[in-house]
Amino acid sequence: MKTIDDLELNNQRVLLRADLNAPMKQDANGQMQITDDGRLRASVTTINDLRKKNAKIIILAHLGRPKGERKPELSLKPIAKRLGELVGVSIKFIDDLNDASTLETVNSMQSGEIVMIENIRFEKDETSKDQTERQRLAQKLAKLGDAFVIDGFGVVHREQASVTDIARLLPKASGRLVQAEQKAFDRVLNNPDRPYVVVLGGSKVSDKLGVINNLITKVNKILIGGGMAFTFLKAQGYEVGDSLLEVDRIEEVKQLLLTAKEKNVEIVLPIDIVISASLDGTSSVSEVDFDKIPVGQKGLDIGSKTAELFADKIRDAKTVVWNGPLGVFEVNAFAKGTKTVAQALANSAAYSVVGGGDSAAAIRLLGLDESKFDHISTGGGASLELLEGKFLPGLAVLEEA
Ligand code: 3PG
Repeated sequence: MKTIDDLELNNQRVLLRADLNAPMKQDANGQMQITDDGRLRASVTTINDLRKKNAKIIILAHLGRPKGERKPELSLKPIAKRLGELVGVSIKFIDDLNDASTLETVNSMQSGEIVMIENIRFEKDETSKDQTERQRLAQKLAKLGDAFVIDGFGVVHREQASVTDIARLLPKASGRLVQAEQKAFDRVLNNPDRPYVVVLGGSKVSDKLGVINNLITKVNKILIGGGMAFTFLKAQGYEVGDSLLEVDRIEEVKQLLLTAKEKNVEIVLPIDIVISASLDGTSSVSEVDFDKIPVGQKGLDIGSKTAELFADKIRDAKTVVWNGPLGVFEVNAFAKGTKTVAQALANSAAYSVVGGGDSAAAIRLLGLDESKFDHISTGGGASLELLEGKFLPGLAVLEEA
C-alpha cells in the first residue's frame, strides 16, 4: 500500500480525507463545542508531514449524519478552528463546495496552506447507495486535487464518494494515522504474542458477536463485562433481574460458549455485579454475586471482585485488545469497573490495543494517561469491522492499481 512518502507532493494540491467526527455539545450561548478532540489530535501528524512536503492541503471530512441536508449544528467550522490551533496555522474554510469560487480558492493556495471544505455529508451524493451519484461527487472533488490521501481510519469501512470513489480518480496513498491503525490491527489479528486476552464490553451482545466469532480462533481468553455480559449469564441459566438482555441472542451465545470450550478458549464472565434500580446513579447502589441480581434491579457495572479478576488476567497477558466499557462509565457510581480494567491495561507490559468509540472516550473521560496504551484506535465501526475480519472498502481501494 502506498504511503505519502511514495507520492510527489511538492506544490501539489492534496485532498486529505480525515475523520474529524468529534462529539459536540451546544454551550449556553448556543455555540457548538467539541467535547473530545482525540480524532483531531490524531490527524495532526499527517497534516504536518504533508506540510513538510510542501503540499497544499484540502481537507474533506464529515460530522454526524446530515443525509444531504445543510444542518448548521453539524457544520465543520468549530472543527476547522480547533484543528488550526492544534496544527498551529489558521485553516481557511470553504462554506460550499458548489460555489464557483471554490476552485479559484484552491488554485490560489500556497504550499503548506490548509483549507477545509464544509461537511461533505451535506452533499447527498456522498453517502448515496447509487455508485453513479457518488461518482458524480467524486469527479467534482477530484477537480480540486492532484492527489488523494486517506487518513480517516474511522471511515474506511464506508463505501462513500470522499472515501472510495475519489480514490479511483487520483494518485492515492494512506496517511500516517491509517498506517498506524493498520499496523496495530495487523499485529493483534495476525501476529499476537501470547497469552492473548480480549476484553469486551458495551451494552449490546449483538454488536460483538461478529468479533467474538472471528477472535475465538485466535485468542486465549475473552473477558466479558458491560451490558452484553447479562445475555451470557442468562445463556448459562442465571437470572439477571432487570439488566439488559437480548433474548433473541441467547441461543447464539450458547453456541459460542460451546465453541470456546472446544477451542480451549477461556470465557471469563463477571462473578459480582454493581446493581441499582436506575441508570443515573440516583437510586441506591450495591454489589451482589452474579447469580443474585433481584428483579427490579439492573446490573450497571462489574463488581470489585470481577474488576480484580479481570485485572489479574490482564497482568498475565502479552497481548490485550479492549473493546467496549465494562459498565455505565459516564455515571460515577458505575465507572469503577471500566477504570480498574483500563488502569490494569495501562500498567501492563502487554501490547495493548484499545478499540475506538466508547472505550477510547472512556480512557480520556476517566483521565487515564493515553501514552500508556500502545494503540488507541480512532475508529469505532471501522475497528470493530477489522476485528470481525471484514473487508474494508476504504483500505481495499488503496491496493487497486
Ligand atoms: C465514526 O464516528 O465512527 C466515524 O466517523 C464514521 O461515522 P459514521 O458511522 O456516521 O459513518
